Amino acid sequence: MEADETNLIAPHGGSLVDLKVQPDRAEELEREAAGLKGLVLNAKQLCDIEQLINGGFSPLTGFMNQPDYERVLDEMRLTDGTLWPMPITLDVGSDFVTDLAQGSRVALFHPEGVLLAVLTVGSVWEPDLQDEASKVFGTTNDEHPGVNSLLAGSGSTYIGGEIEAVRPSQHHTYSELRHSPSDLRLEFASRGWDKVVAFQTRNPMHRAHVELTRRASAECGANLLIHPVVGLTKPGDVEYHTRVRCYRAVIGSYPENTVALSLLQLAMRMGGPREAVWHAIVRKNYGCSHLIVGRDHAGPGAASDGTPFYGPYEAQDLVEEHEDELGVGIVSFQMVVYDATTDQYGTHEELGGDADIKNLSGTQLRDLLNDGSEIPSWFSYPEVVSELRKSYPPKSHRGVVLILTSNDEAYANVALSILSEMFLENGTRPVTVMDSETHSSSLTLVAQEVAKNGGVVLAWLRPKDQDMVPQLRDALIGIGELVHMDIADESEAYNTDADIAVEGISSTPGESAMIVIDRLRELSLIAD
Ligand code: ADX
Repeated sequence: MEADETNLIAPHGGSLVDLKVQPDRAEELEREAAGLKGLVLNAKQLCDIEQLINGGFSPLTGFMNQPDYERVLDEMRLTDGTLWPMPITLDVGSDFVTDLAQGSRVALFHPEGVLLAVLTVGSVWEPDLQDEASKVFGTTNDEHPGVNSLLAGSGSTYIGGEIEAVRPSQHHTYSELRHSPSDLRLEFASRGWDKVVAFQTRNPMHRAHVELTRRASAECGANLLIHPVVGLTKPGDVEYHTRVRCYRAVIGSYPENTVALSLLQLAMRMGGPREAVWHAIVRKNYGCSHLIVGRDHAGPGAASDGTPFYGPYEAQDLVEEHEDELGVGIVSFQMVVYDATTDQYGTHEELGGDADIKNLSGTQLRDLLNDGSEIPSWFSYPEVVSELRKSYPPKSHRGVVLILTSNDEAYANVALSILSEMFLENGTRPVTVMDSETHSSSLTLVAQEVAKNGGVVLAWLRPKDQDMVPQLRDALIGIGELVHMDIADESEAYNTDADIAVEGISSTPGESAMIVIDRLRELSLIAD
């Protein structure tokens, strides 16, 4: 059976796009590409091109040209009138386009070095990124992750054009969980499914999500596709390998042959309302007749002044407005919470005024994991919690990298040796001391490896090298905690960016070491 011969919902625009050329043409393109201008795609562009090539973005047949781009920004439509809310553009530096004109050809490469596609340039233009941000995201505040990535991470020039694809992107993991739209359509058809409700997510699934998806499935008489995004999500989200283990752990709680799991290589923009419409289009292309849209769908939360970027049901409202035109049934949910009195999940309205409502936010969950505290059984499943604990051990068992900056090598070495003794006495972590100047090139690597394995690194840097500290802090995100202690002497001022600043003249190395230990206790990095 072909993917378009099933009883499933028709793709957006009528037919499923497949930009892969025949093998003969692919060989020609490989030869041609050797003489073409080449572009190595970044992570976002790789996600976008994957969905262009496999038809997840049907009816698009390449990166948008300027007329489509402008109408998408202004009216959420392509020039032919088809509903499309999100710009899909190829950004480059202005230098890249100096010798490009309409009709020029550009070879698009995967960072592993393989040719993915050849693009025929349709238009080249300098977008007004502020205007794009305000039309797509409703804000130009760069605390919004989509705005930030657009304004700080995009090249200044866009090139649009049709694509001929040589091969799809290759993934080296989870091959059994990755499907193109036509693969998934054939899988649904072979299971005898014609109605499928998709659950979009970028988080681990807990009890409320399982309840929500069970209800959605019953409400619309459809089977369920758990369709988590594993491309780009909001910075700071639980990384996807851990999430996949969590999804696999909950699959067993659904009746047999009612649920499928597939990973979606999408670069989310956290664009709330527009993103929800886009999600519905993509799921339609993957053969889903329905999409769950709950509270704050694809929302980035709030700005630092506490103002949420979107209202909790703004995404629902926009996608519902276009439900008929999309042909995708929107299964809307209010906030689902737990009522301890009746031991049930439901919306505030359903549970009524007497309910003893319990809810855990993402931040509260992270705090419980950080402390190693118990995660309540009404919230999640033991198997999911155990997967999360493997990736997010309590802070007191996480790797620590202590950087001591001081001009006084002898002082620093004594302080580090005392700290080493103190950590060994504490007994929870193996200790690595890097007390010579030869280590600066290997410091990042050693720090990452030791921290990954829950150890402590004690390292000395001269103040002149302290520019390394912020880079090292970034390199340790999600791996371990960096603590920077600056010991100033009469020749230099305190480093006010340091986590701990002491005056070397007035504290002995032993006293400095004690200050570190106290601070680590305060940060819960050492348990009492
Ligand atoms: S999202 O960025 O992918 O939307 P998340 O993975 O948290 O974030 O949510 C996935 C979907 O479940 C969204 O439609 C969201 O609105 C919905 N959702 C998550 N938790 C709840 C909840 N407690 N009540 C209602 N809807 C929820």
